[in-house]
Amino acid sequence: MSSINYSEKIPNNVNLVNDRTLQRALEHWQPHFLQWWQHLGPRDFQSADVYLRTAISVDAQGWAHYGTVKMPDYRWGIFLADPVAERKIGFGDQMGQPAWQQVPGEYRSTLRRLIVTQGDTEPASVEQQRLLGHTCPSLYDLRNLFQVNVEEGRHLWAMVYLLHAYFGRDGREEAEELLARHSGDADKPRILTTFNEPVSDWLSFYCFTYFTDRDGKYQLKSLAESAFDPLSRTCRFMLTEEAHHMFVGETGLARVVKRTLEVMKEIGAEDPARVRAAGAVDLTTLQKYINFWCSSSLDLFGSEISSNSAANFANGLKGRPDETQYQDHVLRESSFSLETPEGPQTVPMLNALNEVMRESYLKDCEIGLKRWNRQIERAGFAFRLTLPSTRFRRTIGAWAGLPVDPKGNLVSKELYEKNLPGWIPSESDRAFVHSLMKKVVEPGKMAAWIAPPDRGINNLPVEYEYVKLH
Ligand SMILES: [Fe+2]
Ligand SMILES: [Fe+2]
Repeated sequence: MSSINYSEKIPNNVNLVNDRTLQRALEHWQPHFLQWWQHLGPRDFQSADVYLRTAISVDAQGWAHYGTVKMPDYRWGIFLADPVAERKIGFGDQMGQPAWQQVPGEYRSTLRRLIVTQGDTEPASVEQQRLLGHTCPSLYDLRNLFQVNVEEGRHLWAMVYLLHAYFGRDGREEAEELLARHSGDADKPRILTTFNEPVSDWLSFYCFTYFTDRDGKYQLKSLAESAFDPLSRTCRFMLTEEAHHMFVGETGLARVVKRTLEVMKEIGAEDPARVRAAGAVDLTTLQKYINFWCSSSLDLFGSEISSNSAANFANGLKGRPDETQYQDHVLRESSFSLETPEGPQTVPMLNALNEVMRESYLKDCEIGLKRWNRQIERAGFAFRLTLPSTRFRRTIGAWAGLPVDPKGNLVSKELYEKNLPGWIPSESDRAFVHSLMKKVVEPGKMAAWIAPPDRGINNLPVEYEYVKLH
């Protein structure tokens, strides 16, 4: 197990002290990162004392330390999972050959692009969520928001380390650009559309952490398979932290459902208007938020048919999530049958890997829906939450821009436009959800639209003062 050196400016387990040039370059980037954090990180809570976990090792048993810290003092560091001795490439045309410790020249720009694209999402999500603290439903939730935020900050560090350590001057320039692009910025937006969508209420935040952080999980899993070993090790450790982000989403939405069901029982009705009047999120509105964030996240996997994904796989740059679960790791002989607007099409499997990934992602998304639907069923109501079809509201790929309903049927343009406000949140739905968002900061108290969590953080009670405001 490699331990982390906390006496250094930048905690790390990559022996930074032995590489003075790299250390100096990262120490030069550090104040830029902190400026960005002050400027675009959580607004107005920089002096609050927050109960946070900090990575202190990559040991599966005890990698995190819990304690109270002001966010700007958080120890963002560089941690790679321990190396696997004599690791071999696990897929693609070079399968079985030794994994790379350096970037092969011919894949340099592609690998850099993959790292930059992943890296860009990390600070983007912090920017998207920066105003949420003002309307937190509880101190417990406020703490979870900040935990996610500081860890996305650390994920940026993880990618910046790779850029600095392996991509020379280009890499350093890209690291600066990661702080120059901003979510929603008209001139310099973030790279991917979903990361420019505002996350201005907590229902969106829970959907984002459920659907969009889960896309992150799948991207990290596929990069964890990479032949470029430092990337693989970096992503493996990031996945450890990522699990909590999805926990926040899944339990957040489960608590919304729970509270809504309590209200529905109290008033003895499913009628959305009456549920709203009683101060809860009606299930129809929740379904619209799910449709919005799920469809937006589905685009992140890219086109159904992609020569880039084929090349990235064949060259060993990016595998499938959990590559070992498959039999065939080369895929030169297999094909995939795809539904396109022109009818079924058979394409080489290598070209359909985005779709393979999207399918396994959706299976993972189903788990939460099953759980929430069981809650609804047990409460005696007929409503069922569903995931939208992969064809709905796509802006990338074979179904991009086509009028498709959430079930996946092609409909007329008129019908689509007429019904869209019933499928995704309308202005008035958003206004209603925003009207529920009132800050609750008394320890143990919850906003009326969400049930308390089953338990607190790190065995502390729910009533613990997770954030001390001054
Ligand atoms: Fe992340
Ligand atoms: Fe995340």
